[in-house]
Amino acid sequence: MSDSIKRIGMLTGGGDCPGLNAVIRAVTKTALYKYGVRVFGIEDGFQGLIENRVGELTSLHVSGILTRGGTILGSNNKCNPSRHYMGDDEDGNPKFIDATDYCLQTIRVNELDALIVIGGDGTMSCAAPLVEKGINCIGVPKTIDNDIMGTDITFGFTTAVSIATGALDRLHSTAASHHRVMVCELMGRNAGWLTLHAGIASGSDVILIPELPFDLDSIYKFVQSRMDRQRGFSIIACAEGARAKDGKQIVARHDPTSPDPVRLGGVAEYIASEIEQHTGIESRFTVLGHVQRGGAPMPMDRILATRFGHHALEKLMAGATGRMVVMQKGEITDVDILHAAHKQRLVPTDHSLINVARSVRTCFGD
Ligand code: F6P
Repeated sequence: MSDSIKRIGMLTGGGDCPGLNAVIRAVTKTALYKYGVRVFGIEDGFQGLIENRVGELTSLHVSGILTRGGTILGSNNKCNPSRHYMGDDEDGNPKFIDATDYCLQTIRVNELDALIVIGGDGTMSCAAPLVEKGINCIGVPKTIDNDIMGTDITFGFTTAVSIATGALDRLHSTAASHHRVMVCELMGRNAGWLTLHAGIASGSDVILIPELPFDLDSIYKFVQSRMDRQRGFSIIACAEGARAKDGKQIVARHDPTSPDPVRLGGVAEYIASEIEQHTGIESRFTVLGHVQRGGAPMPMDRILATRFGHHALEKLMAGATGRMVVMQKGEITDVDILHAAHKQRLVPTDHSLINVARSVRTCFGD
């Protein structure tokens, strides 16, 4: 056991997801009860580390949070310490500074011996300069997108799949009543995991994911053939990052102050309108949005998050440095924290789930 670890800092970075509080609870309880180590929560991700917004977590703070969505620490998907936004200059251009030294100062004044950083690839990338300066960071991967390199699954994903499946199920009955095409846009950034899983679970007729660019003509033919076969409706599960073979992803907004400035959105509206114009079949679109990230984690996510938090603490106390907790082939283990930085785990185009879906006549529009 490491005697040098007495005080641990912990932050949640990036977009929130169900299960963050379960990790915070697992880390804090294991640290306090098993090792007698003190834990300090950092508010709003790296923003709080730059601004020294740090407070001690007691067992009272983490009591009753296992089932709660979001994060009691607050999160931030804009802040990158090595390129920290400082407002706009006179010409309206954003100004940035390297705020790594502010983070180091916060770590010093609070006498933190290590940091637990809970986040996605962006958070692991933000931790990299601190790791280079000798700060022991242990990463815990989270995201509803399930796109983090090195881990087969992230907590938050299972809950998001369930929410998305429920929404697609509901669209089914109304689509059937009105003989319409319903296009539902799901999150996931550049990865199609969420849409692929929810699409299969809901029996969606068409599944569109970024990894398999679509051809609108083949979608028109498919939904028309369903009409001709007296199946007077179609459900299309569409990832926000899906794009036509000859087109680009549709961007809803750009945020130049964010480490990942692109926010995708709008593809479902585009597809619904094209289908209606080209086939005459009445079509509607639904954008599920942040509903997919909110609310209580499902039991499997609570368990996974608790296992991740526990493993993070155990590794730290065993003397490990610069590791990220992962799930590989059903086992919890860990990899170098930089393994996930600046990378995305996409759906392989020959993934077995794609073949399974094709065999039940799901159309991928390709
Ligand atoms: O990475 C999680 C995620 O929800 C993506 O699926 C989505 O593209 C993005 O975050 C949305 O970001 P924001 O919360 O800034 O709108």
